[in-house]
Amino acid sequence: MSKTVFIETLGCAMNERDTEHMIAELNAKEDYVQTDDSRTADLIIINTCSVRERPVHKLFSELGSFNKYKKLGAKIGVTGCTASHLGRDIIKRAPYVDFVLGARNVSKISEIIHKPKAVEIDIDYDESQFAFKEFRGSVNKAFVNISIGCDKACTFCIVPKTRGDEISIPTDLILQECERATEAGAKEIFLLGQNVNNYGRRFSGDHEKVNFTELLRRISKIDTVKRIRFTSPHPFHMDDEFLEEFAKNDKICKSMHMPLQSGSSAILKMMKRGYTKEWFLNRAKKLREMVPNVSISTDIIVAFPGETQEDFEETIDVMREVRFDQVFSFKYSPRPLTEAAEMTNEVEAEVGSERLAYLQGFQNSVTDEITNGHLGKTFEVFFEEKRDGGFIAGRSDNNILIKVEADESLLGSFAKVKVIKTGRMSQIGEIIA
Ligand code: 5AD
Ligand code: SF4
Repeated sequence: MSKTVFIETLGCAMNERDTEHMIAELNAKEDYVQTDDSRTADLIIINTCSVRERPVHKLFSELGSFNKYKKLGAKIGVTGCTASHLGRDIIKRAPYVDFVLGARNVSKISEIIHKPKAVEIDIDYDESQFAFKEFRGSVNKAFVNISIGCDKACTFCIVPKTRGDEISIPTDLILQECERATEAGAKEIFLLGQNVNNYGRRFSGDHEKVNFTELLRRISKIDTVKRIRFTSPHPFHMDDEFLEEFAKNDKICKSMHMPLQSGSSAILKMMKRGYTKEWFLNRAKKLREMVPNVSISTDIIVAFPGETQEDFEETIDVMREVRFDQVFSFKYSPRPLTEAAEMTNEVEAEVGSERLAYLQGFQNSVTDEITNGHLGKTFEVFFEEKRDGGFIAGRSDNNILIKVEADESLLGSFAKVKVIKTGRMSQIGEIIA
């Protein structure tokens, strides 16, 4: 009889893909099937994120409750970025944890579950060519990793310490995976990497040096691939060649994530982001000129050490000028192992909270204006998932989330949809063709 595994996934899309990889391996080698009930599971895994402090605190309270209510004899494992970061300390703090597996070691999942109290967190371990077994949480959309690790040294970010140096996955392996996934029914390929447009800088072994723009070209030539998305690109690597391919290639969805982090060149320098306010504005302007219907999303950190009111206002300036479609904003959270954690010119917590609230209020009014503008317009929507109340939901090419009251049989297909009601989180539409 099959055993069951419950996995809770925190953090980013890379973690979601790691979860799929672990399920695939556990299923192929151990006959595990996924369950959404932790109390009856034979194996409980928390696939963690360490990018900010709060999820790390949450981990230990969650572990306690999983342990309290788990089935007799069930194992508990911690995987992902906090596993890489805290390693054996996790078992010291929560002695009932059976194993700890780092974000760059997920291919070892079926071995580690049999090694009591094992900790595998080597960030030099090379999984860039590991032939993971197939499992996908969605039949319509396929995540495909194009690189592992991150070569940047942003001073606020713990990720290079949890996922190690960047290694690109060989192009032929990526193309094969895109073919396999789309032949099995996926229409959309979602390329993943910490820094996708730095693709091709370093491979493990001897491989053809293909850059990200060329990779996009090659993937788009696969007939069964209908749509391509990717995350996250870095503003520093947004050269003209890349923007031109983005603009003219019909299979590339017209939504771009451009993580700004700060609008102040002085703060960007302290963050070691490698670009200035002017460079960012130039890239965003060029992008909007080339692709008028593009949606641009961003990540912003407020209250980085040393951020003055003027620096903060420069961030708002950039937001005013670019009019982002979506902003993910965070208050700076000092992370161990990072350069910024050593900085002593912290911004007062209360000031940080005020700045965050102001920024979010500002963006809400921009978002409302943008979404109100969708009313009555028609978009081509790819239906991905079922929603409550008889709705199915999908995204337009430029990433507008639209719900439609329609039959589930339309999942996995495209339709022209007219927006009849707008909202901050999603729009309601009706199918017109
Ligand atoms: N504090 C707050 N936000 C952070 N991010 C990364 N590190 C930190 C930190 N130390 C944010 C960045 C990044 C997103 C994934 O998380 O904006 O783009
Ligand atoms: Fe993803 Fe970064 Fe969180 Fe790791 S720390 S799970 S790479 S967001």
